[in-house]
Amino acid sequence: MLLAIPDLLTAEQVLQARQLLDSTQWVDGRVTAGHQSSRTKDNLQLPEGHPVANQLGEMILEALGGNALFISAALPQRVFPPLFNRYQGGQSFGTHVDNSIRQITGTPHRIRTDLSATLFFANPDEYDGGELVVEDTYGTHSVKLPAGHMILYPATSLHNVRPITRGARVASFFWIQSMVRDDGQRALLFDLDMAIQRLNRDLPDHPSAVQFTGVYHNLLRQWAEV
Ligand code: NI
Repeated sequence: MLLAIPDLLTAEQVLQARQLLDSTQWVDGRVTAGHQSSRTKDNLQLPEGHPVANQLGEMILEALGGNALFISAALPQRVFPPLFNRYQGGQSFGTHVDNSIRQITGTPHRIRTDLSATLFFANPDEYDGGELVVEDTYGTHSVKLPAGHMILYPATSLHNVRPITRGARVASFFWIQSMVRDDGQRALLFDLDMAIQRLNRDLPDHPSAVQFTGVYHNLLRQWAEV
């Protein structure tokens, strides 16, 4: 399932982040690439643990924690500390798959990457090219969202970032370990949750709402690892 999370960050948060990101030193993005993806990766990144990355990462984690759509869709167990990248001057990232397990640098913790996320910090009119292209069983999806919006997609998918032909694309990217490992099961729970919310809104106090909520939780109980 591909899902856009609109307005994860406010306009003021995006502006503050851009001021920090536009005035800092970036390094070659191959530092976090695995062996296979390092051959197709050509971008810039903030080093892991960079003070700007830490500061903005905390802001992002707080926004995620308060975002009902993200929580319903991702059922997050752990979120990797957000990383930041920048593409400019023809840079791109060829088709690759993200590493399945990632060590959180400087800690003994690892996460299984069930979902990948890209949070945009540049608006589409600031650059040409730079689309995130995700392949899934329904075909190929090209994604370019306004600043402050985020795309969630299964980390199992092949994906690439198209070459930048004008301007710069600045984004944060990270991974989520979900309580529900399987993308299909997670998508069913998300659909059910959305339907329950609509039922509660349109027919308040309808007795079926309690039954459906029971089904939701009993499925979650069967499928979740916590
Ligand atoms: Ni990737």
